[in-house]
Amino acid sequence: MLFNTHSHVDTNRKFESDRDEVVARAREMGVSRMMVIGFNREAIDVSVAFAERHDWVWAAVGIHPTDALQWNDEVASALRRAALNPKVRAIGEVGLDYYWKDEAPFDVQRDVFRQQIRLARETKLPLSIHDRDAHDDVVRILEEERADEVGGIMHCFAGDWTIAERCLALGFCLGVGGTVTYKNNPVGQDVVRRMPLDRLVLETDDPYLSPMPFRGKRNEPGYVKFVAEFVAQLRGISFEEVAQATFDNANRVLGIE
Ligand code: NI
Repeated sequence: MLFNTHSHVDTNRKFESDRDEVVARAREMGVSRMMVIGFNREAIDVSVAFAERHDWVWAAVGIHPTDALQWNDEVASALRRAALNPKVRAIGEVGLDYYWKDEAPFDVQRDVFRQQIRLARETKLPLSIHDRDAHDDVVRILEEERADEVGGIMHCFAGDWTIAERCLALGFCLGVGGTVTYKNNPVGQDVVRRMPLDRLVLETDDPYLSPMPFRGKRNEPGYVKFVAEFVAQLRGISFEEVAQATFDNANRVLGIE
């Protein structure tokens, strides 16, 4: 019984030829609930339709920071409309990406991020946050825009303990995926060891960031199982305890009964 809170299996072209098999395999590996991410104008409709076709799948909708130049009134109202769909349980992934420098200017990213936090508060949906190389600005904007009113998930959390504490103070859960299993990630492992278990949710961010022993290969939603196993080992608790706690946490933060 695993809840994968961040998968791109519905839209990514790396799953073009075998999407159904990958989804079936995830079920066999114990994924009983999942959230897919409608991360730009085109993906919104695909992700919502995918969630509607599968009673065990929900969707987030939002404009990813590298697609921030898509933002306009039509997109904003498409998001507002999608937010009314009962299968849509988060605004995301939204945030800042200071790594892909050429995709969208940083000031545009920050503006679109702020607008979408306001949209989340207006629609009373939690946020799924993308933060790449932008920890300080992401957390500052979340604080300034009072994101604590809705909370959400810091997707693929990559900050240190100081950043983690600020996110936890805002009421957010930390999304833990394949990167925690990497040998060269002592900071991420430290956070996962110290954080309260009732704020931890699991994810894959497939097809990216495969956990060990699949690092460098295509990731799939079922591999969340290896992340759960690693977290259990790291915290010295059972796999079942990790699975149950993270399943409960994801349902709570996304408002799923
Ligand atoms: Ni993602």
